[in-house]
Amino acid sequence: MKQTELFSAYALSKELILSNRIVMAPMTRCFADDELAPTDAAIAYYAARADAGLLVTEATLIHADGQGYPHTPGIWSERQVRAWRGVTDAVHDAGGRIFCQLWHTGRMAHSHYTGQQPVAPSAVALQGSLPRARDLVYETPRELGLEDIHRLVERYRQAAQNAMLAGFDGVEIHGANGYLIDQFLHGETNRRVDEYGGSAENRRRFALEVVDAVANAIGGERTAIRLSPQAYVNLAYTEGDEEVFEMLFEALNQRRMAYVHVAAFDADLSYDYLGGRPVDFVRQHYEGTLIGCGGFTPEKAEDELENGRMDLVAFGRSFIANADLVSRIRDGRELAVYDEAMLGSLT
Ligand SMILES: Cc1cc2nc3c(=O)[nH]c(=O)nc-3n(C[C@H](O)[C@H](O)[C@H](O)COP(=O)(O)O)c2cc1C
Repeated sequence: MKQTELFSAYALSKELILSNRIVMAPMTRCFADDELAPTDAAIAYYAARADAGLLVTEATLIHADGQGYPHTPGIWSERQVRAWRGVTDAVHDAGGRIFCQLWHTGRMAHSHYTGQQPVAPSAVALQGSLPRARDLVYETPRELGLEDIHRLVERYRQAAQNAMLAGFDGVEIHGANGYLIDQFLHGETNRRVDEYGGSAENRRRFALEVVDAVANAIGGERTAIRLSPQAYVNLAYTEGDEEVFEMLFEALNQRRMAYVHVAAFDADLSYDYLGGRPVDFVRQHYEGTLIGCGGFTPEKAEDELENGRMDLVAFGRSFIANADLVSRIRDGRELAVYDEAMLGSLT
């Protein structure tokens, strides 16, 4: 089949022209070294996929206190910034573009990694054990004070500035999948009664402060955010959550941003409270560049683009299984099928 749309160029901004509409989705791989810096294997891994229009890195910690998984990279130390420079240089040498996904896990952090009690909007614990360390159970987080919140916003800003020093083309703020920013957006995890909780306007406040701090530091055209309005990972829906997202998009429409990326494992799942698929809900409320993700085949991705339901399509697991995903799609070759065993190495 023809892949006309997938292989058309796309201008994220005047300076940032993507050579095609295929995005590599952010994927945690747990292969950073003991100082949480990316290794030479990470350089090769990203460089091998640089023919995607845009790469988004694995989620990258803004600070040590946000860690909830083993060996996930950070971008707060000089050594980490230098190591990331190796990745961005290799990707740029291969003609690619790369954004760094900025991450804090909030209540999904663990003292096993951080040496301290996790922090979150409210002291609401997640039940169960940690995904890549099953002998650890989630701890009850400490409710963030106002000073803590201001410090966190500042750390997002600093991390974005560090990402520029490391040579990234931009940053994608991780506001999805039940991590810190998502915990502010959803009623289940945000029980605050101050200006960061309660009304929809208050619950969107932290996300907006982070967006504004980052955009002021590095430029709105280099600032993106990933969101999952459907509360599908480690969060349950609370009535009224959708209004928080509607108000957030209303505010984002007033700002210049690189894109909004909708996170899902299956983009086709519909949610009554969103009136359908999350990506269509976001399209309805957000006017800027939209990336969809979750279970796409090349044919389905082409169809989504042709019908204008999104501007760019991200592939996750297919990129783990196929370092040469872009050329396989272009040549109409069969794709290797993803298997969890592939997470055992970074190739
Ligand atoms: C191993 C793995 C790690 C992931 N890590 C992240 C992450 O760090 N940040 C994020 O926003 N999403 C993460 N995701 C979700 C993916 O970005 C993507 O939304 C999901 O895999 C669905 O897309 P796919 O069907 O094309 O794989 C991860 C997914 C997988 C399979």
